Amino acid sequence: MLFPITRMRRLRRNETLRRMVRETRVSIDDLIYPLFVCPGTKVKEEIPSMPGQYRYSVDMLVEECKTVEQLGIPAVLLFGIPENKDQLGTEGCAENGIIQQTLQAIKKECRSLILITDVCMCEYTVHGHCGVVVDGEVDNDRTLEYLGRMALSHVIAGADMVAPSDMMDGRVGYIRDVLDADGYNNIPIMAYSAKFASGFFDPFRDAVYCAPQFGDRKSYQMDTPNIEEALREIALDIEEGADIVIVKPALPNLDVISRAKQEFSIPVAAYNVSGEYAMVKAAAANGWLDETSIIMESVTSIKRAGADMILTYFAKDIARKL
Ligand code: PBG
Ligand code: ZN
Repeated sequence: MLFPITRMRRLRRNETLRRMVRETRVSIDDLIYPLFVCPGTKVKEEIPSMPGQYRYSVDMLVEECKTVEQLGIPAVLLFGIPENKDQLGTEGCAENGIIQQTLQAIKKECRSLILITDVCMCEYTVHGHCGVVVDGEVDNDRTLEYLGRMALSHVIAGADMVAPSDMMDGRVGYIRDVLDADGYNNIPIMAYSAKFASGFFDPFRDAVYCAPQFGDRKSYQMDTPNIEEALREIALDIEEGADIVIVKPALPNLDVISRAKQEFSIPVAAYNVSGEYAMVKAAAANGWLDETSIIMESVTSIKRAGADMILTYFAKDIARKL
């Protein structure tokens, strides 16, 4: 049936009609809020390249988590900035490391909030790489042992879920084995499966001081042009036991999110990363675009592409807007 019988505009005439035919709905249940924890007390330090996001000391982070829980956001993703970085990222696995202390503190105050931890070496090493460096290269298999220990130490301290972001081969299966061997077979793994070597991570690297001190991350993170390879990464992580897979960054990879959702029966999360956040903030600060409409449009399109969950620094803004 063609025009003039068919008129697509009939169902767009007012907001109520538009509401009735809306195909995609973002829910507060979809949101995961990333947070940064640093040493000290009473610290709430704004991250210069991420206005509105902060490095919190443990005490302040607990307060922030209470707010997040009260808003109804189901989960947070925690990143640690250690007191001391070293060659092997020792503090990352320490019983009283920054993340381990944080987990214990939040657990006491926020009963229903799901605590997810980033599992990676780069936040804890002086060289800023995501693995053990041997002769100037990141050694895959030696890194696995470290990641297993780190994940286990997070879970012992109270993590509800672990999210390995290193992109080493075999790490999901390795971590699964380590957790299961200690009786933690009920702890899910959210794997950063399709993580592209991206310029959009730079503000994050400022936030946690983890920029690689030599070279780049292209020998482990994915090459932007490759979608078939991304699907293979996802398939492998699922076989190794991933419970949720992440595609990252989100907006430059909506096609990957879409294919992942179509081809696999597993929850897909999309990470709307620091650089995506920074661009919106910078343009909004200049009055070049309307922040709220950009946030809602972005998150809706990520959901429409197929994401079941969205990791976003805008989570609180979205929760308040819904
Ligand atoms: C650590 C890690 C990074 C991000 C999440 N975990 C940085 C990186 O791999 O360089 C990026 C998050 C963001 O940019 O918001 N491996
Ligand atoms: Zn890393």
